[in-house]
Formats: sequence, C-alpha cells, structure tokens
Amino acid sequence: MNKCVLITGATVNTGYGVAEKFASEGYDVVITSRGEESKERAVTALRAAYPAVRVEGYALALVNEDNSINEAGIKDMFADLDGKGMTVDCLVLNAANLGIRQQIFKNPLSDFINVINTNVVANYALVEAMASRLVEKKQKGSVVFVNSNTAYRAIPDRIAYTTSKSGALGLMRALAFDLGKYGIRVNAVLPGMIKTDRWENNYNDCRNALSNFTPLGDIADFEDIANAVYYFGSDQSKNTTGAELTVDGGNMIQLYPIVPEK
Ligand SMILES: NC(=O)c1ccc[n+]([C@@H]2O[C@H](COP(=O)([O-])OP(=O)(O)OC[C@H]3O[C@@H](n4cnc5c(N)ncnc54)[C@H](OP(=O)(O)O)[C@@H]3O)[C@@H](O)[C@H]2O)c1
Repeated sequence: MNKCVLITGATVNTGYGVAEKFASEGYDVVITSRGEESKERAVTALRAAYPAVRVEGYALALVNEDNSINEAGIKDMFADLDGKGMTVDCLVLNAANLGIRQQIFKNPLSDFINVINTNVVANYALVEAMASRLVEKKQKGSVVFVNSNTAYRAIPDRIAYTTSKSGALGLMRALAFDLGKYGIRVNAVLPGMIKTDRWENNYNDCRNALSNFTPLGDIADFEDIANAVYYFGSDQSKNTTGAELTVDGGNMIQLYPIVPEK
C-alpha cells in the first residue's frame, strides 16, 4: 500500500507544489481547500498528472466564521478517510492566513485571532487527529510545518502573522517532544519569499522588500520548498525531529541586504 500525505491549502502555489512532489514519489495524496471548486480543480489536475496514486480532496475551512476552530470538520474529514481505508502517514501544515497589511490601531482584534487560530490552533487539532490514529495503529509518521523566516524576523504590518509563525515553531518543538516516543516526527521548513502568483502579480511590492538581495541572489520556487518538505516528511530524515530547515537564499543570516549600485 502507498504511503499517504495530507496537505492543507494545497490547490495553488507552494501547497500544490508539495502535492506534486509527494505524488511523484508515489504517495497517495489528500488535499484540503476552503473552496469546493478549487478543491475539485486541483484534485482533477493531480489525478490526471499522477494516475498511479490515489488523490482525494476535502473542502474544509479550518476556522469558522465566529473564529472558533472547525473541530467538527476536521473530525469528519479524518473519519471519512478512515472509511476510505486511508491512514495519513505524513501531514503537511501549509495553509495559512497571511494576515497581509493588518495594522495595529486599524484592524480589529478578531483579525489577529483568526490568524493565530488558522496558523497555530487549527494545526494542533489536525496533528491530534492524525497522530491519534497512528498511535492506535502503532504506525510511525511525520508532520511538517510550512513555517516562515518571519518566525525569527519581523516584517511591516504583519504582527499577527509573525506572532503565529513564532508560535507555530514552539508548537512544532513541543509536539516533536511529546510524539517522539510514538515514532511520530515533527519538523518545520522555514521559507523566505517564494515565487507565488502573488510575487508575479505584485512584483513592485515584493521588490521593495529586497528579499532577492540575498547571498544566493534569488528567492525560492515551489520545488525548493517541496524538496525540503519531502526531506522532513519522508524516511530520508528518519532520525530527525524538532528540526528547522530555512530555505531563504541566506536572507536570515544577513545583518542587512547588500543592494547593488545602479
Ligand atoms: N509566499 C511566501 O513568500 C511565503 C514565505 C514564507 C512562508 N510562506 C508560508 O508558506 C505556506 C504557503 O504559502 P503560499 O504563499 O504558497 O500560500 P498561499 O497560496 O497564499 O496560501 C496557501 C493556502 O492557504 C489557504 N488559506 C489562505 N488564507 C487562509 C485563511 N484565512 N484561512 C484558511 N486557509 C487559508 C488557501 O487555500 P484555500 O483558499 O484553497 O482554502 C491558500 O491557497 C504558508 O504557510 C506561508 O505562511 C510563504
């Protein structure tokens, strides 16, 4: 039987790239999206591109309109996977509320809470649902957080996001500690800026962030992040837990970016 990966928020950008990487390595793939249509589109595309593996999708909002965690939705998804005979060996926590342009003095507290609940609390609920099944079946597994170098470095108007990524790193380490005895590994990939559709459509804004003025001189593409996620998610890293892998072209080691003279 194939191994099975579940990736949250995986219809576009990094999440879709991660889904392609695992499918190409022979994993059955489960993806989530808040939208039914986007979920169906991605599932159809993945099934066509990777006919040798099983692909399933769920329309799942991690956080409800009232900012509570969608515990019922998470429970139903895992129960449905049980019914399909699919056990998630690898969970990739990719979906995130990016909290872009949330400003102190302007945004209501509920915006801050939504970012924390989406990026931290819902991920805890997902890990609990996945890991409890593995423990019951005495199976090993792995969890990979797609975190961010903003866990360590602040950027403007992203207080909630930056806080959430630091919090998610603490969650990663604590889960790695408590789940280690069950053979469940938990690690985090920390991307810097990624060439998403946002980057393509919003080039000036991104350029002003100077993220391409790094020691390596370029930002990451989906493959860079997917390869790092696959390393932690697969047996390639079977003795590694509680670890971080930064994929940011060396951005974080700089005191300041070296901007070339015109
Ligand atoms: N892009 C970057 O430069 C960058 C840099 C560092 C770290 N990261 C991290 O890498 C991961 C992927 O980033 P990305 O830029 O590729 O992702 P993205 O496409 O912007 O977001 C990933 C998915 O998360 C889901 N999502 C967005 N807002 C949400 C919300 N409020 N509640 C629940 N789900 C939501 C969306 O899926 P649906 O709409 O289908 O539900 C979205 O497609 C994220 O964890 C991000 O923090 C990104």
